[in-house]
Amino acid sequence: MENSPRSLIYLTRTSDQTLRGLLASRGWTIRVVSSAREAEREAMRDAASAGLLDLNSQFDKHELASLERCLSASKVGWVAAASAEQMADASIRRLIRDYCFDYVTIPCPDEKLVNALGHAYGMAALTVGAGEHAVSHGPLGEMVGSSEAMLKLFRALRKVSATDAPVFVHGESGTGKELCAQAIHDQSPRRRAPFVAINCGAITPQLLLSELFGYERGAFTGASQRKIGRIEAANGGTLFLDEIGDLPMEGQASLLRFLQEGVIDRLGGFESIAVDVRVISATHFDLDAAMREGRFRSDLYHRLCVLRIDNPPLRARGKDIEILARHVLERYKSDASRPLRGFSDDGVRALYNYDWPGNVRELINRVRRAIVMTDGRLVTAENLELEQTETPMLKTLAQARERAEREVIEQALERHPGRLVDVARELGISRVTLYRLMSALGMSAPKDDRDLREAAEG
Ligand SMILES: Nc1ncnc2c1ncn2[C@@H]1O[C@H](COP(=O)(O)OP(=O)(O)O)[C@@H](O)[C@H]1O
Ligand SMILES: [Mg+2]
Repeated sequence: MENSPRSLIYLTRTSDQTLRGLLASRGWTIRVVSSAREAEREAMRDAASAGLLDLNSQFDKHELASLERCLSASKVGWVAAASAEQMADASIRRLIRDYCFDYVTIPCPDEKLVNALGHAYGMAALTVGAGEHAVSHGPLGEMVGSSEAMLKLFRALRKVSATDAPVFVHGESGTGKELCAQAIHDQSPRRRAPFVAINCGAITPQLLLSELFGYERGAFTGASQRKIGRIEAANGGTLFLDEIGDLPMEGQASLLRFLQEGVIDRLGGFESIAVDVRVISATHFDLDAAMREGRFRSDLYHRLCVLRIDNPPLRARGKDIEILARHVLERYKSDASRPLRGFSDDGVRALYNYDWPGNVRELINRVRRAIVMTDGRLVTAENLELEQTETPMLKTLAQARERAEREVIEQALERHPGRLVDVARELGISRVTLYRLMSALGMSAPKDDRDLREAAEG
């Protein structure tokens, strides 16, 4: 790491030539950028970089806010350079504290800056290196994934995060809908305000209304004190309505009013309260059917679903299945009775062959259970309780071909019992090829064909 060129993003409006010369002489490859947008583009590149944020560049408040996104890229270790005067500004101090690896107060000795950049680069490189070895993280920290389907999801999440419109997240159970909602909030301008989640399917309808909207003292028997609802609690931030399909009709009407007018009424209250909340909703079931059957209001649906995110099922994520499994193994392997080295070949195959109806949640549960159950050093298909699923699910082309070949040969053998010559002719292949195929498929040849077997083996 020491000798290869290290890359530095220099975000400045007044690019200091002397400084650039110094850094270049210390082995830095410098990319000068002058806006948050450019810096963000540079930060998206594959390799780790250090970043030098020149706060003397007269960024206005609005620009400083837009810097936060490029500053949060984990591949870049940022060092801020600010004057003592700027350090007196609370918003600058906060920006540095929240996003930068280190800072220098200028003027400062060259060596101090060079050292800080070196450390910042080293820390960023550790992050990138860890990602390459063990798991492939999305830009969203917790969300693991590098398949095409997940990259598409990450792009969509990034886009919707930048807006304030309601988002509807659709996806099978266990695909990470809640994680998506949290990621949208964490990347959005509301990230410093609360993220409040409520599962509409887990609470009785009556309780749900008071949970959502809150109530005044005396609103009903037992309401001995005013209670602030979840919508109000999310003020300034994001409200995540999970399993929105379970929201009863009464709640749907109140929620619609809130979405249309931005106000709520506490139960038993006399005045409407204005609330500034971004709404993200999710469900695993088919809302179209619920609307057709009159169980879900279509006007509410259209309000909720201004933007839509589709969370891919685990079986559509290719290599991510294995990456996630290894990630979970790393995370929980200390639960095992002795050190685990990884998955056996049949374990890996079983992971790919299985259909994962419970998606990531099921994968986490299976791997954690397997970790506890495993006696050996490798987690097998049997430990994962997936050993029986090897045949029914055809996942690779090779497996599909193998099964088709076996079926065709078996059928032809039934028509021409013991007569490989006729079987071969019917299938349009030579007898030798037929014999090779059968032995590759583990099928036993009729006894009287010993001569052929010898031909094939010879
Ligand atoms: N891409 C992912 N990377 C890592 N963990 C994930 C991912 N997707 C889901 N999970 C985990 O799987 C579990 C189920 O996710 P959740 O968001 O509750 O799913 P859903 O709301 O769609 O049922 C959680 O423990 C979550 O942390
Ligand atoms: Mg959920």
